Amino acid sequence: MKTQKGVNPKPRHQAVAIGKVILFGEHAVVYGQPALAAPVAAVTARAEVRAARGEWIDARTFGRRYRLSQAAERDPLALAFRLAVDYCGRPLHNLELIVESTIPVAAGLGSGAAVATATVRAVAEYFGVRLAPEAVAALTFESEKLLHGKPSGIDNTVIAHERPIVFTKGQPPEPLRVGRPFTLVIADSGVASPTRITVGDVAAGHARDPERYQALFSAIGAVVNAAREIIEGGDPVRLGPLMDENQRLLEALGVSAEVDAELCAAARAAGALGAKLSGGGRGGNVIALVTPETAAQVAGALETAGAKRTITTLVGSATPSA
Ligand code: PMV
Repeated sequence: MKTQKGVNPKPRHQAVAIGKVILFGEHAVVYGQPALAAPVAAVTARAEVRAARGEWIDARTFGRRYRLSQAAERDPLALAFRLAVDYCGRPLHNLELIVESTIPVAAGLGSGAAVATATVRAVAEYFGVRLAPEAVAALTFESEKLLHGKPSGIDNTVIAHERPIVFTKGQPPEPLRVGRPFTLVIADSGVASPTRITVGDVAAGHARDPERYQALFSAIGAVVNAAREIIEGGDPVRLGPLMDENQRLLEALGVSAEVDAELCAAARAAGALGAKLSGGGRGGNVIALVTPETAAQVAGALETAGAKRTITTLVGSATPSA
């Protein structure tokens, strides 16, 4: 595209990626068990790529603008930017990446994966390259590795596909067919908890006592399979006890903090059918299964119990849960 004077008019291209929750199976998924995850459209990351003088990253949410050449060696944003441009077969020259996100960091809602996904999509948009969700997920998995150390790949996969999935590490995701949509209240404990730490602690526990940990992972896998059947069968009310069971198993793995257990208890006392932490744990988010009638009172009880923010979301609606 040229202006009348023959100068490039600084084209800009934007893309969005939405957040996610893990419904069942976190941590055990790192060890080969299946897990269930769903997109959450109420929180988003946005990226823009535009022509610039030099190469820049403007991470607006974090108040940092820096030259790509000065990015830290393990900067996940710089990696996503470089890999995406390279995938498009172009030189990374005179380009600026701007990213903004409303997804709380280190809270189990997929902030890192969403920011990387928005980046990859914005780069592809800029160069007019069509990217299949599989290609997006493969590119963003690299920055997930920098962030998490040993990720299963569930976050970047559900965010790339934007639909509920059954995920097993190293395999293509299967669609999770939601027989009847169900409502969750997601509550942010306000305690940021980097996933790399809890994943590392589980790895250390597993190295110390492999039999005990394998038994816990298998038990979580069984809960996931039962939950999948119930979700696909369209009887989500029966998920409540499975969420409670998954939470007990996460407590046994040592990844649930007191704040998670307290928020789960508050949700159940206010009428939730079940509750569990979601994601890495030790803070982050908890999810509570509710009905449309109990959603407001459960959200209120979670806020009274100390949640910094709640999101009510419908899993399995035609558009990603809003
Ligand atoms: O990124 P988080 O906090 O939602 O956690 C991802 C889920 C884990 O199973 C804990 C880690 C992984 O890579 O699967």
